[in-house]
Amino acid sequence: PPNLQMMEEDLGLKRVNCRAKGGSPGFKVAILGAAGGIGQPLTMLMKMNPLVSVLHLYDVVNTPGVTSDVSHMDTSAVVRGFLGQQQLEDALTGMDLVIIPAGVPRKPGMTRDDLFNINAGIVKTLCEAIAKSCPKAIVNIISNPVNSTVPIAAEVFKKAGVFDPNRVLGVTMLDVVRANTFVAEVLGLDPREVDVPVVGGHAGVTILPLLSQVKPPCSFTQKEIDYLTDRIQNGGTEVVEAKAGAGSATLSMAYAAVKFADACLRALRGDAAVVYCAYVASEVTELPFFASKVRLGRNGVEEIYPLGPLNEYERAGLEKAKKELASSIQKGIAFVRK
Ligand code: NAI
Repeated sequence: PPNLQMMEEDLGLKRVNCRAKGGSPGFKVAILGAAGGIGQPLTMLMKMNPLVSVLHLYDVVNTPGVTSDVSHMDTSAVVRGFLGQQQLEDALTGMDLVIIPAGVPRKPGMTRDDLFNINAGIVKTLCEAIAKSCPKAIVNIISNPVNSTVPIAAEVFKKAGVFDPNRVLGVTMLDVVRANTFVAEVLGLDPREVDVPVVGGHAGVTILPLLSQVKPPCSFTQKEIDYLTDRIQNGGTEVVEAKAGAGSATLSMAYAAVKFADACLRALRGDAAVVYCAYVASEVTELPFFASKVRLGRNGVEEIYPLGPLNEYERAGLEKAKKELASSIQKGIAFVRK
């Protein structure tokens, strides 16, 4: 009933004001594609994040159910649902961070690039709305193929005259999460103690783990390097095959997305030394986009770190990665410019 809704909205507003008065930093976060396989666990985990004061859930289906469900969690974030394109603008207005897991996932036998035809259009539409409603928001892009969807987002923002290369970030965190897990297994360590830089992009050979730069410092046999590189590059496919047609990684992806979104929010709050890998507009190589370690701050990406010393194996991997990345980037740019 409208009265009940009004009451809830009223209460929601009061709770937001209350937080603001207390001086605790509360950020407004929108999830686009919130009812999906990634979107739902991502929504739950963001509702648990104390840095979030308002959580907007947008999808073209099922947002009322997800919103009602998650809004009963006794955490402070106020949750609001938005359904269908006519509510997209309202979903985005005033947001500090927008996370995009909207779009179709892979089925066995598919590459991420096979998703281009459907997901390119979805990301383009969503970014056009962001350009209009919250052009200063930090944007985290999860929708595949990330190697092309980030260039698509950049082109859309350029066209609208609002492109800030520091605010558009492709989420490659799951590659780092997998790399940390698999390397920890080989070394017999707790994965929380392990940090593996993963650079390049987010598909097959473009996923380039820098095993020579693992922390804590360690060494691997060539057999271990071959095994780890292959497993990290094909971790996504491992999940797609295990799910046998029911989609791709959703739970580990939601975990990785929240780890990355939380880093963005801590940086917005002003925390120092927030450094993670992400796929961004970059001058680290001759390509216009590349994933590497970046330092996040109040304005998004504040520093992009060089790749550091690579061994011969990694240099060969880098050449392969750049070749494929160049064409994925071009494909994304051409899609918007056509
Ligand atoms: P899913 O199909 O379960 O969910 C996608 C959601 O997007 C659905 O709820 C759907 O209604 C919604 N959607 C479709 N069109 C939309 C539009 N125009 N506006 C808003 N929402 C829309 O898929 P899942 O498993 O959640 O995967 C989502 C995307 O994330 C896929 O492209 C997948 O390839 C990608 N992915 C990326 C990873 C990464 O590391 N960056 C890892 C795993 C998946």
